[in-house]
Amino acid sequence: KEIKIFSPATVANLSCGFDVLGCCLDTVGDEMTIKKNELCELRITKITWQDLPMETNKNVAGVAAKVMLDHLGEKQGFDIEIDKKIRVGSGIGSSAASAAGAVFAINKLLGEPYTAKQLIKFAMAGEQLASGNAHADNVAPALLGGFSLVKSYDPLEVISLPSPGELRMVILHPLIEIKTQDSRAILRQSISLKSAVSQWGNLGALVSALYTNDYDLLGRSLVDGVIEPIRSILIPYFDEIKKVAVENGALGYGISGSGPSVFALCRGDENASRVKNAIGEFYHSTGIEFDLHLSAIN
Ligand code: HSE
Repeated sequence: KEIKIFSPATVANLSCGFDVLGCCLDTVGDEMTIKKNELCELRITKITWQDLPMETNKNVAGVAAKVMLDHLGEKQGFDIEIDKKIRVGSGIGSSAASAAGAVFAINKLLGEPYTAKQLIKFAMAGEQLASGNAHADNVAPALLGGFSLVKSYDPLEVISLPSPGELRMVILHPLIEIKTQDSRAILRQSISLKSAVSQWGNLGALVSALYTNDYDLLGRSLVDGVIEPIRSILIPYFDEIKKVAVENGALGYGISGSGPSVFALCRGDENASRVKNAIGEFYHSTGIEFDLHLSAIN
């Protein structure tokens, strides 16, 4: 009748994989409680921490759940409570966590009529509402865990990739809000053949590195000459943080999703703690408020 879940934050794009690659964090996320009700109504009954719409059709969790229930022809009503720990507009899949969490939990309460992969499509409806674009690179890893690659959108085909066990993610979130819709609007709609060649070379290498546990290659593949030069302008001290991360031994560094969060991918807990402390110390000196997270990828 009732289920409580942890709905994880995610890092999308991972530099060279704009809109097609993402991974799931295991220490940062929302908590959601979903209950069956007797009203045949889908309701958002409580949201804590963040100021978000309670109307079902304006809330990403409500919209994703509704698309799923309509697809199933299911009349059962549900109450959704969200302990919204992931800040809105942070770049670590805040809307994706709500949408993915809602469909995951309701699917469980209904006896799992859908597989986790089938749920991706429904959760994408939440992303459409939140950003005007139904990307899957946050909702897919939130539902499947580890790394996900969107092989194609039409038809939707998502592949789970292996996650080398020593990988750790340090996330710095400068407390400014960047709406995904806005940071998509500033992107160019076409790129040069030269940029494309470099991007797909790096993406292929990154996928290979995940399969072969090649941490060094993984770090060298986290390159983005297409999106990062445009979006990084919105992130205060983007280049300076990179310098600190690299100097302290991070494998790679980039923008998390559409920003403003940035990520440093590290090998092992010791290195990740060092990178986290160094980045934290540096950002503290800028006077800008921030959140700092360290997580494995699961
Ligand atoms: N791929 C999307 C973007 C992710 O970068 O706009 C948003 O978190």
